[in-house]
Amino acid sequence: MTRDLEIRVSGRSVATRIVVGCGEMDRAGTWLASLSPSTCVVVSERNVLAILGDRVARSLRSADLPCETFTFAEGEASKSGATIAALHEFFSRVGLDRRGVVIAFGGGVVSDVAGFAAATWMRGVRHVNVPTTLEGMIDASIGGKTGINLPAGKNLVGAFHHPVLVVMDPQCLGSLAPRDLRAGLAESVKHAVVFDEAFVTWHEENAGEILALDPPVTEVLLRRNAEIKSGVVSADPYEETGVRALLNFGHTIGHAIESASGYGLRHGECVALGMAAACRISVRRSGLSPAEAERVVRLIRSLELPSTLGEAGAKVGGVDVDAVMARLASDKKAVQGRARFVLLEQIGRACLAEGVPASDAREAVESVLGV
Ligand SMILES: NC(=O)c1ccc[n+]([C@@H]2O[C@H](COP(=O)([O-])OP(=O)(O)OC[C@H]3O[C@@H](n4cnc5c(N)ncnc54)[C@H](O)[C@@H]3O)[C@@H](O)[C@H]2O)c1
Ligand SMILES: [Zn+2]
Repeated sequence: MTRDLEIRVSGRSVATRIVVGCGEMDRAGTWLASLSPSTCVVVSERNVLAILGDRVARSLRSADLPCETFTFAEGEASKSGATIAALHEFFSRVGLDRRGVVIAFGGGVVSDVAGFAAATWMRGVRHVNVPTTLEGMIDASIGGKTGINLPAGKNLVGAFHHPVLVVMDPQCLGSLAPRDLRAGLAESVKHAVVFDEAFVTWHEENAGEILALDPPVTEVLLRRNAEIKSGVVSADPYEETGVRALLNFGHTIGHAIESASGYGLRHGECVALGMAAACRISVRRSGLSPAEAERVVRLIRSLELPSTLGEAGAKVGGVDVDAVMARLASDKKAVQGRARFVLLEQIGRACLAEGVPASDAREAVESVLGV
């Protein structure tokens, strides 16, 4: 079934059409043809092309679209200035003009890189996301954040550039490593816990089917997440009003743990730990009841995500509490050395808190690290 969501970004006349459905990957050519592109450049990485490349290539061929493909090595290391320079070189060689379209076909690494290359080519050409990971579908493909890493930090260079079209096909997810699948679910828990209590209940009732990628359940999962994220993004497309900052629930401590672990844990695993920690702080600071905090932790565990470092198992050695605290103080969103937290008032309602004492943050970090 084809379903359609639209984000209208006021003022700057951007609309993102979001299509979710089993088999949509095979209709990518038709969706793209509706944009009447002069040229299409598919940007992808080796893993994804090896697994899914033929299906998308067939779809683009059947739509008779003029198409070129740029491939880079999979992995975070490719989110670099060197890849952007190579992409721009490629755009120039194949004559990508202002009516051309860049298609990001892959996970969050691909959409961040391809989106940034599109944002900066001829001061911005259209781009389309065809995400192939759960992290990509639930988070990275919607919202217009694009960018690359520097040695000094992740995502330091970037631009807001909203995709004109996002095509999500649950069938892309079948080949995903189970650990990557679970990690992506952390962002779904985040959306549910912050914005939609009924969606929390839905996760609780369907945890087994979610983990098994049951097709109808996966479609509901993707569609509801797309609705939530696109609703928040439409309300605050360029992260100016604070609404969008609520999407950082679990990310303040999560990012600090991710960095202190030397990136030995998946982003989603760190977000799960960060959400468990934020719930502890919320009980002290924003009126979340202990029972609701426990409910969030149970949900995290039921989706086989860690709520303590011990549950993350042997994936990483110890993570030093002081190292996490130092990173919290230097967080790019910190105000005068105090990290800004998203806290829960209750499940489905969150707030921003700037005055959280370091002692509360430390207690929560120690608790999830098992110190
Ligand atoms: N722009 C945003 O709003 C936003 C939001 C969240 C994350 N991100 C960024 O996204 C990146 C993480 O995204 P990710 O988790 O998708 O990582 P990723 O793109 O590195 O993909 C993870 C792994 O899965 C493989 N893979 C991709 N699709 C597959 C498939 N269908 N089957 C089998 N293997 C497949 C990839 O080759 C890779 O090894 C980070 O760089 C993060 O900063 C951006
Ligand atoms: Zn995240």
